[in-house]
Amino acid sequence: MAEQDLSSKVDDLKVTENAAEAVNDDDDDQVVDPWNVVTKSDKGVDYDKLIKRFGSTKIDQALLDRFEKVTGKPPHHLLKRGIFFSQRDMHQILNRYEAKKPFFLYTGRGPSSGSMHMGHLIPFMFTKWLQEIFDVPLVIQLTDDEKFLWKDLKAEQALKLSYENAKDIIALGFDKDKTFIFSDMEYIGSCPAFYRNMIKVQKCVTFNQVKGIFGFGDSDCIGKISFPSIQASPSFSNSFPHIFGDRKDIPCLIPCAIDQDPYFRMTRDVAPRLGYPKPALLHSTFFPALQGAQTKMSASDANSSIFLTDTPKQVKTKINKYAFSGGGTSVEEHREKGGNCDIDIAYQYLTFFLEDDERLQQIREEYSSGKMLTGELKKELIGILQKLVADHQEKRKTVTDELLKEFMTPRKLKWGGKDS
Ligand code: TYM
Repeated sequence: MAEQDLSSKVDDLKVTENAAEAVNDDDDDQVVDPWNVVTKSDKGVDYDKLIKRFGSTKIDQALLDRFEKVTGKPPHHLLKRGIFFSQRDMHQILNRYEAKKPFFLYTGRGPSSGSMHMGHLIPFMFTKWLQEIFDVPLVIQLTDDEKFLWKDLKAEQALKLSYENAKDIIALGFDKDKTFIFSDMEYIGSCPAFYRNMIKVQKCVTFNQVKGIFGFGDSDCIGKISFPSIQASPSFSNSFPHIFGDRKDIPCLIPCAIDQDPYFRMTRDVAPRLGYPKPALLHSTFFPALQGAQTKMSASDANSSIFLTDTPKQVKTKINKYAFSGGGTSVEEHREKGGNCDIDIAYQYLTFFLEDDERLQQIREEYSSGKMLTGELKKELIGILQKLVADHQEKRKTVTDELLKEFMTPRKLKWGGKDS
């Protein structure tokens, strides 16, 4: 998207019904909410500004050190590199882990397309790692109801997308004994305790408040207006009686990109009024669109995204054709001035997926000095992503309908080596 277009998109979003007023009002340069991520800066979203506005806390070295001390494991590269950059109440979760008190993980996906993209992998890969480190139950919400309400999708289609996306999620290697994946359309009707929590949340939040938080307008359907109560409810342990019985005192930790934070600010506000603990959060930055860091990779823009269903050829073509380059306009200029890693999309993608710190640093130095050319940098990325996508496709083939059903059946889960 040209710079001009992006500027006007930022301005347009600020006056549309869906632009979250309270989230974006005093910012001239960026819009970040659950539906839109757009900034005028080619370096991407200003995350320090977001932390200030959202009122979360930056993940600092002290937290990383404590994480390592308490868990005995070095922090994941997504934490070390500041890709997970913001948190709420993470120290409280570590306190519980130290005291051997229970907590659980909660994350989710809005199934808007049959295939997930590379950006969606970030919270799920990280969640899998957290599950391994902490050995706790995990619940994954598939908000097919949300996508039915927001998109031009039939209810049955949205449910089908839930199953497709669940297969992608299972293929990432989550532990079946510790993971419950649920479709809102299926689970909520079968679980009175979940519904009770939904209406409790609904009673605590006024239309005026959701307008402020999410920017809903008078012409939005009432399904959208009550939807935040549905995304809030899995934060409470008694929404899952098959896992936690009627215990309502077990807090959760939610890993997600920061676009989902408005839901959980609302949840944290109502939790104490309902006698529940507030959910803790770990927020990530956005995996950028191929065209540049002014927008996030989004399933609704196929050209901005590399999907988990892409062929090796598609991965190669998309990166070569669309990945915005921070290199010089000619080889001579590049050799002389070097490339700019801060805006180069291929380099940015490597920070998410190349785990080898030394190699990443070497690439940074060689590209910045002009020794490495854009084509060489892209080639390195293409190799990594082609392998990742092809490996994923192989694993997904092993996810049968039976396995899917097992993950999606309400049942006891194991944690700390025991049944719940
Ligand atoms: P959805 O489907 O938009 O996104 C699923 C998860 O992926 C994150 N995400 C990204 N992360 C990095 N870079 C990107 N480009 C990118 N795009 C999306 C999202 O932040 C999210 O963590 N309403 C939610 C579904 C949901 C949920 C939750 C998400 C229900 N409960 C609890 C997180 C936590 C949705 O539509 O997500």
